[in-house]
Amino acid sequence: MLLPVSLALLWALALASSAKPLVVRDKSPITVPFSRRLNFTGKSTLAQRDRVRAQTFMGCCRGGMSCGFETAAASVFDVSAMNGAVDYTVTVGIGYPATEYTLIVDTGSSNTWVGADQAYVQTNTSRNTGEEVEVDYGSGYFEGEEYTDTVTLGSGFAITNQSIGVASVTEGFSGVDGILGIGPQDLTCGTLSNADECIPTVTDNAYSQGLISAHEVGISFEPTTSLSITNGELTFGGTDSSKYTGTITYTPITTTEPASSYVGIDQSITYGSSTTILPSSAGIADTGTTLILLSSSAYKAYERATGATYDENTGLLRLTTAEYDKLESLYFNIGETTYEFTANAQIWPRSLNTAIGGTSEYVYLIVNDLGSDAETGLDFINGMTFLERFYFVYDAGNSQVGFATTPYTNATTN
Ligand SMILES: *[C@@H]1O[C@H](CO)[C@@H](O)[C@H](O)[C@H]1NC(C)=O
Ligand SMILES: *[C@@H]1O[C@H](CO)[C@@H](O)[C@H](O)[C@H]1NC(C)=O
Ligand SMILES: *[C@@H]1O[C@H](CO)[C@@H](O)[C@H](O)[C@H]1NC(C)=O
Ligand SMILES: *[C@@H]1O[C@H](CO)[C@@H](O)[C@H](O)[C@H]1NC(C)=O
Repeated sequence: MLLPVSLALLWALALASSAKPLVVRDKSPITVPFSRRLNFTGKSTLAQRDRVRAQTFMGCCRGGMSCGFETAAASVFDVSAMNGAVDYTVTVGIGYPATEYTLIVDTGSSNTWVGADQAYVQTNTSRNTGEEVEVDYGSGYFEGEEYTDTVTLGSGFAITNQSIGVASVTEGFSGVDGILGIGPQDLTCGTLSNADECIPTVTDNAYSQGLISAHEVGISFEPTTSLSITNGELTFGGTDSSKYTGTITYTPITTTEPASSYVGIDQSITYGSSTTILPSSAGIADTGTTLILLSSSAYKAYERATGATYDENTGLLRLTTAEYDKLESLYFNIGETTYEFTANAQIWPRSLNTAIGGTSEYVYLIVNDLGSDAETGLDFINGMTFLERFYFVYDAGNSQVGFATTPYTNATTN
């Protein structure tokens, strides 16, 4: 009988004699940086771009319908006018050896695909599944063939057999190679030519392949006054406690359709001490949206409460500096927690006013019109200007969403 000590000795000898050292990954969360790039071309406003995207959220997934083949024909707007504006992107390696692609970080969709700008480079690990794929994003679409390949996120974190789209036709994606879709897997159902199939996301596969021990993604983004910056962080399989303060409070995914198909939550919003802006409603948190969009009646209530004026050039509400001095906080009530969204958080960074078609004379507000009636089941979108102030967790495994304050919640950088 071998004693434990002899086993250990044998093990050490085996290690010493093997050419490759034995590496046991510790399953700690994987952190991947992401960037914001602002490149406004003047053909459409930030608000228009976000609204067009929002139309797809509201139109799809009702009665089990997906955003794939069924709704693509329903696009009636000029998607080419939507090119460029604000992108939140991550560098992802695909294949072996890996080619690096710049992909939009999107919790509002769940297909991962490449080929918009840089063409897909096939390697030994590429396998064509024989399926066609198509997804409509409102602000663009892609169609192509579905492959499986090895996807590398961060250093040394390779997901094998990841199903990815390889685009042959795209609209609305300039300067990026595609999308890293990290929303709920159900959003992929119906996007393949075999309509019954759904596609596990990179988070789903990383978890099922044992690469991470929690089925979740933590997302940090900090306010910025730069046109281009890498100050975001995706954490697969956990959260990064250096990026938030206090504790993360979780709330279940809403049960109200269609917000329930996305990273959907219930929330109400008040302005100042007691003005109701949004009664308790369902909506979503979304990394692919820049502004905070509210159903038209809530937006009107905000316009009245702040005394702001609609600005044609930017499509945003604007204040004079004297009016801005009187701007009060918004309070987002999510679950049992109230998140104070300061006056400074409600404005576009003033040093970037001209980059979105504004002037230095005014202060522009990032709360805008969703362009729909109240009580549609998707009455708000908390876009990146919200997520710049609160750490965000999409816990797919437990169907819940977490928020926490950050060192930037009360920042006055804007
Ligand atoms: C901004 O977008 C325009 C048009 O889409 C493109 O030609 C230009 O190269 C972009 N600039 C940067 C800095 O990415
Ligand atoms: C993988 O591709 C390389 C060329 O990039 C080739 O030399 C090698 O033989 C291939 N390996 C396999 C297992 O197909
Ligand atoms: C590869 O992934 C597909 C779904 O994306 C799945 O159907 C298939 O079983 C997987 N193959 C292996 C070998 O894990
Ligand atoms: C932000 O400021 C408010 C009011 O001064 C304060 O109550 C709150 O604790 C601050 N939040 C953070 C995260 O620092």
